[in-house]
Amino acid sequence: MSHPIIFDTDPGVDDAQAIAIALRHPEIELLGLTTTYGNVDIETATHNALLLSELASRDIPVAQGAAGPMVKPRHPAPAHIHGANGLGNIELPDVRGKKDLRSAAQFIVDTVNERPGEITLVAVGPVGNLAAALQLDPGLTEKVKRVVIMGGSIREGGNVTPVAEANMFNDPHAAQRVLTAGWPLVLVGLDVTHRCVLTQEHMQRIEAGQGELGKILAGSYAFYRDFYREFLGIDGCCPHDSCALAWLLRPELFTTAPGHLSVVTDGIAEGQTLFAPEGRGFIQERWSQTPLAEVCLEVDGEAVVEWIADTLS
Ligand code: RIB
Ligand code: CA
Repeated sequence: MSHPIIFDTDPGVDDAQAIAIALRHPEIELLGLTTTYGNVDIETATHNALLLSELASRDIPVAQGAAGPMVKPRHPAPAHIHGANGLGNIELPDVRGKKDLRSAAQFIVDTVNERPGEITLVAVGPVGNLAAALQLDPGLTEKVKRVVIMGGSIREGGNVTPVAEANMFNDPHAAQRVLTAGWPLVLVGLDVTHRCVLTQEHMQRIEAGQGELGKILAGSYAFYRDFYREFLGIDGCCPHDSCALAWLLRPELFTTAPGHLSVVTDGIAEGQTLFAPEGRGFIQERWSQTPLAEVCLEVDGEAVVEWIADTLS
């Protein structure tokens, strides 16, 4: 079965790994890359998306999107994690391709309306482009097949604050809009991505299998791995964004639960994702009033990283 997807991304080292999967996997029909600020500024995100598809010899539309959050001021890009160029500060070849003339949000709306009921939106950065697309066409909620989001944390705690995951924290107002829109949504958060560790051995297989693209993936991985080693004591890296595609193609590796999501937009817990399991009573009903979504709670992490390495080797 082929999955037509639009991949919304802020590349980003782990985004680049996921983009490579989206470009290469035979069961993915990649209709476009839409870019957002997040790991890098928006121009760099678009440059990297164009570059990665060129290195895979694919001509994929790249539509540029949000340059900052909907409401809050923008946080500085995490250059210590992804490098100032988003790809571990390695030297990058020139890009020849040009971005699509439409905004990311318009591209999403146009593409979904051409194939109602068929397209999955996979978003692995701050979700402002999806919020803007909903603003342009509220009927999108009925026209997408599914929305898969790498972001949030149910029981795991945060990675940029004690409670907030980076993609939610970067634009909590957009996240609140998108996670409560009532479309068929799956949240692939830190509860599962932190159980997956892509090792140097995996990356050696990927480098050997991916030609010029493999050199970029391996070079940027080395920088990203240094961050994981120094700050988290992990020998390898969490391939957060690839986990969203792993869920799409290998859902049997994940355990999910239905419930109601909300995102804290202000205060000390801003960016936190709140999850009220379906059917569970609380002192008030306000946490259970948003539409139902699915969240990932457990995963076979070893099988996911094997799947990533197999896909790219
Ligand atoms: O928290 C992990 C997410 O934040 C990933 O999408 C990664 O690319 C970073 O931006
Ligand atoms: Ca990302």
